[in-house]
Amino acid sequence: MADNIDQSLAVVILAAGQGTRMKSSLPKVLHRIGGRSLVGHVLASAAGLDPAHTLVVVRHERDLVAAEVAVADPAAVVVDQDEVPGTGRAVEVALDRLPDFAGDVLVLSGDVPLLDAATLTQLVAGHRASGAAVTLMTAVVADPNGYGRVIRGADGSVDRIVEQKDATDDEAAVGEINAGVYVFRAQALRTHLPRIGTDNAQAEKYLTDVAGLVRRAGDRVAASVVDDVTVTYGVNDRAQLSGVGRLLNARTVRRWQLEGATIIDPATTWIDVTATLAPDVTVLPNTHILRATAIAEGAVVGPDTSLVDCEVGERATVRRTDATLAVIGADATVGPFSYLRPGTYLAEGGKIGTFVETKNSTIGAGSKVPHLSYIGDTTIGTGVNLGAGAITANYDDLTKHRTEIGDEVHTGSHNVFVAPVRIGDGAKTGAGAVIRKDVPAGALALSVAPQRNVEGWVEKNRSGTRAADVAAHARSAQKAGDGPQGQEG
Ligand code: UD1
Ligand code: CA
Repeated sequence: MADNIDQSLAVVILAAGQGTRMKSSLPKVLHRIGGRSLVGHVLASAAGLDPAHTLVVVRHERDLVAAEVAVADPAAVVVDQDEVPGTGRAVEVALDRLPDFAGDVLVLSGDVPLLDAATLTQLVAGHRASGAAVTLMTAVVADPNGYGRVIRGADGSVDRIVEQKDATDDEAAVGEINAGVYVFRAQALRTHLPRIGTDNAQAEKYLTDVAGLVRRAGDRVAASVVDDVTVTYGVNDRAQLSGVGRLLNARTVRRWQLEGATIIDPATTWIDVTATLAPDVTVLPNTHILRATAIAEGAVVGPDTSLVDCEVGERATVRRTDATLAVIGADATVGPFSYLRPGTYLAEGGKIGTFVETKNSTIGAGSKVPHLSYIGDTTIGTGVNLGAGAITANYDDLTKHRTEIGDEVHTGSHNVFVAPVRIGDGAKTGAGAVIRKDVPAGALALSVAPQRNVEGWVEKNRSGTRAADVAAHARSAQKAGDGPQGQEG
């Protein structure tokens, strides 16, 4: 999108603070909601404006934050704040990196993740249309506690911002707050930031003081009052982290609903911002669709399902399943109670059923692993049916080996495949077989010793038990010839 770059826009993201109230060893802006770090969300919104420059100011745990910034937006420039504290100083060091820049500077906070590109675009456009030197985003809230207050003059225009800790009682009673999101003309920052001191309740260089100074210099400070206050919510502790995470999720769920997905229960459906849902997907309650998961048209997912980096094909159904890095083909069925580990590839029309675990395995078109199985490091052809309780013994205590099963293979119940081993096309195996040697195409493999019945064993060795009594009764009735005593299969 190099063509669309806004050459007169720079974005500065403030992310140097410690985030003490998180009580975390992880820097605050690296905590995640919706599958992305807080600063990652801010970078993604900023990128939507195609700014000529994006700078992220860091200090606390700077290497960790810088590494995340490099992943989230490789084009963003990381700027180190020095020991002078405060948001004003943070913007000042960022601006020092753009000595020739004369456009507008959009200032965002790394801990305010819900601001979307559309809202920010509007803010910048409004700023440019107004001719103001500064435009701040403000909101009127019921509880302004913790925020800077917007003080307006007699004519209703913005006069200055007062931090809560520096506010008089009258000022503290004002309900219009500074959201911490601003557009400045670069020149206004260059003129006024050097004049700001740290003579205030927090001994910090306040960015908010620029507003008052601009005003004293005879320039205009505009305010853009947002109607949806939630977009300005910041994260300062873990309760706010989950609150903001829920708001983001609600927004994501609604977006996919409007795109044509049926989502039965938004409250228990969690969708990362990086996942995609095609039209006519149905999501049942308590389902987590995470990271790069993509669900194709007509698929039904859930209930009680967690998909991480998975592909689900058209019309597939996935019930009560935990899957990571798995590909589920069109018309395939998975679950209930399936565990698909990385490298599972289930082709179209295939089935992974109840209490089945798979890993690093390909299951061909129309092939079924229906019940009680572990399938690891295995390639299964097409039209295969594995009997209940199939186990691939892929690990010999030293290394992993592969099991290869051809097309149209049907195996008996409770087989163990001791890898490395191959089963040829069309072969069959008996119940209970332990397959240690390759089975040629079309062969029937039997590995279990023939069954031997020791007649009368129970009466002889367990006399006096109820089993012996009923056995004796059955055997005498049989001798008398008054009924068949068949064996159950
Ligand atoms: C700031 C505003 C306040 C506003 C509020 C909105 C100031 C002085 N006050 O207060 O008017 O209502 O945001 O949320 O700006 N940061 C740095 N370097 C620093 C200090 C902070 O990069 O030296 C970063 C923080 O990591 C954070 C952002 O700036 O991302 C805001 O800092 P914070 O200390 O949270 O400011 P508030 O007290 O919330
Ligand atoms: Ca804050």
